[in-house]
Amino acid sequence: MRLKSMQSVLSQAEGGAHGLKRTLGAKDLMALGIGAIIGAGLFVRTAAAAGEASGAAVTLSFIVAAIGCAFAGLCYAEFAAMIPISGSAYAYAYVTMGELIAWIIGWALVLEYALGAATVAIAWSEYLNKLLEGAIPYQWCHSPWDTPSLVGNVHGIMNVPAIVILALLTCVLIKGTKESALLNSIIVLVKVAIVVLFIVIGWGFINPANHTPYMIPEGTKGHEDFFQHGWGGVMRGASIVFFAFIGFDAVSTAAQEAKRPERDMPIGILGSLAICTVLYILFGHVLTGVANYTEFKAAGKEASVAYAITTYMTGYGWLAKTVTVAILAGFSSVILVMLMGQSRIFFSMSKDGLLPKVFSDLHPSFRTPYKSNLILFVFVGLFAGFIPGSVAGDLTSFGTLLAFVLVCAGVMILRAKSPGLARPFKTPLVPLTPILGIIVCGAMIAAIDLETLEVAFGWMLLGLLVYFCYSRRHSNLTLR
Ligand code: ALA
Repeated sequence: MRLKSMQSVLSQAEGGAHGLKRTLGAKDLMALGIGAIIGAGLFVRTAAAAGEASGAAVTLSFIVAAIGCAFAGLCYAEFAAMIPISGSAYAYAYVTMGELIAWIIGWALVLEYALGAATVAIAWSEYLNKLLEGAIPYQWCHSPWDTPSLVGNVHGIMNVPAIVILALLTCVLIKGTKESALLNSIIVLVKVAIVVLFIVIGWGFINPANHTPYMIPEGTKGHEDFFQHGWGGVMRGASIVFFAFIGFDAVSTAAQEAKRPERDMPIGILGSLAICTVLYILFGHVLTGVANYTEFKAAGKEASVAYAITTYMTGYGWLAKTVTVAILAGFSSVILVMLMGQSRIFFSMSKDGLLPKVFSDLHPSFRTPYKSNLILFVFVGLFAGFIPGSVAGDLTSFGTLLAFVLVCAGVMILRAKSPGLARPFKTPLVPLTPILGIIVCGAMIAAIDLETLEVAFGWMLLGLLVYFCYSRRHSNLTLR
């Protein structure tokens, strides 16, 4: 239960310890947010959610997920403006709820960032193969646990393209990310343009029959489970598309680089969330209107947007190609932010003594945590190469939702414990907002499928083992 003192954290935020420069304004933060947000969640998991659980009502799933994110986002904003240091939810918990909870959050964030990167890398591989018109043999772009191919019943061996993109981006990260800020802004523009273009052109190809019935009716074959039809399906759909919103919290990891964190953090976090929510709902409406949700269980499952365009939007073959190239670029920026976020969190945990020093060793000339990046590459690469995207994606959602729940709780705890602290941005309606955040995010956790929850539980147990065998004894708070 021991806490890191607020004083030591704030002095760290002054710059000395990390020496990060405060260069980002509200617009840059929003661009950073959107760069991390729009990715595989939208271009892959929208179709998965529609096919598996929510049907055309995937739009409602987006709304549920957005509501959960908005409540959590308001809580993140209070912390990010008050404790503007890198390390995000992990760092907030260390000063509010104690070392053990901070560790649990840090461990859950590994699921968010590291597995998030793996999930998007797997999606990248799907779209690359679509662009190459299936030139990569099935067994070399799928994991052994993926369902065998529809034609020829071929089993996957290893997802090579996913590993390759991770390797390339790890090199970029080791080299340093300053140069990539401009590239990120360009990618964000392209990504948003593509989504808008698909919505506008696709609108004319909506077949109203695909939207009736809106939710999957009870008794539909293959949808017997409570969470696979009706409102239950909307909830599971929300836990699947929730992945699409992950990343707005990555804005908070840049708090130490914000010019005016008290004003720009809330704008950056909530602004990027609002823009994406509107785009997502419209996108879900068009995608399930152009193709029927049932197709997203079979042939249209992979690279669903390109599938919908080539199958139904006659005359727009060029759009399918353009979209695919833009999506590949867009996925790369998401992977980059995720890998960077993960190494920042490991960096903070290592500085606090909870992880070995190797995670905060900097490269002599690039000044980046290169050893940490390399270890991460091996870990993330193993997941990307050998497990299916849906499994990695659901685990990512679990880790993030758990962190959200704990951040919401943290706001209430710190308000009670230290009411007098300066709070440049205050979460409105406390305790109502955090309580609703806990309820909505908790409900999404409950809607995740059982197998994923079991694996997640195992991961969290492993985390406790590491904490009690290593971190507790090596913590700076023990050694002091
Ligand atoms: N929100 C990010 C994506 O959808 C993680 O790819």
